[in-house]
Amino acid sequence: MSKVLVTGAFGQVGSDLLKALIIKHGKDSVVATDIAEPPSIFKDLHSEKLDVRNPEMLKKILVKEDVRKIYHLASILSASGEKNPFFAFDVNIRGTYDLLRICSEIEGISVMIPSSIAVYGTDSPKDNVSTRAPTRPGTMYGISKVTGELLGMYFYKKFGLDVRGLRFPGLISYETQPTAGTTDYSVDMFIHAVKGLKYSCYLREDTMLPMMYMPDAIKSMINLSEADPSRLIRRIDYNVSAFSFTPSQLYSAIRRIIPDFTMDYSVDSRQEIADSWPASLDVSDAVLEWDFKPEYSMESMVADMIMNLRKD
Ligand code: SER
Repeated sequence: MSKVLVTGAFGQVGSDLLKALIIKHGKDSVVATDIAEPPSIFKDLHSEKLDVRNPEMLKKILVKEDVRKIYHLASILSASGEKNPFFAFDVNIRGTYDLLRICSEIEGISVMIPSSIAVYGTDSPKDNVSTRAPTRPGTMYGISKVTGELLGMYFYKKFGLDVRGLRFPGLISYETQPTAGTTDYSVDMFIHAVKGLKYSCYLREDTMLPMMYMPDAIKSMINLSEADPSRLIRRIDYNVSAFSFTPSQLYSAIRRIIPDFTMDYSVDSRQEIADSWPASLDVSDAVLEWDFKPEYSMESMVADMIMNLRKD
């Protein structure tokens, strides 16, 4: 039986993607790989401990499991990447290169590699930023994501490897704790609000960033992976996003449901990263080439986040 494999499977995106893939393909067709141990909800799933800096191990798993599709999510995010840029280079750039090289030797495999708004830098425009805008990032995470896009296109053209990708904005989800990204303040704000705790936000109140709710992110990745290849021109770097907001706008939206919630600001080095990213994205390439259409508005996302966090 051919399988779908996810790297970085127990991270923020992976945890939600696994659930969707299990529903779609059945538990026995999904292989979760991660450097971390599986959380209890996935203990019945076939998982392999994998450090993506170990290509031999990856190759063994791909061949043994007859993997036909990979979602390559293993990545060191922007804030932790700046704390340890050499580690981020090894995991994100070397890891992606090795994965593509191995896959180019396996017939009939396809690869989905999410990219990020972090590909943009201070010389990109701020508003309604096109896929075609300059990508000269200032963070190791951004550099690794631009490199992943370029390598993906190279492997497609040179070896015919079916590589696809999309640039995610900040992603909001209730399944996992915020990890090490710059946009994660939003998730952290929700968690504090629902627990009745005061939140101290590390970004300035007027920092506008593009965002999307996780169900839409998962759906868009799966839709792109199944899209008619004859429609795909850009293939690897589609901007996707559902709305943009600032910390102060999110605070007001949460307070409409949790009026006692309080917050102050304690800005740190992540502000510089956020300042180099777009405030909003032009998603027209994704709409044109594979019918991208997010369902959640900011308002429906806020209500759903709070409802789900309250269940836990
Ligand atoms: N959410 C990511 C980060 O903040 C951006 O893609 O690092």
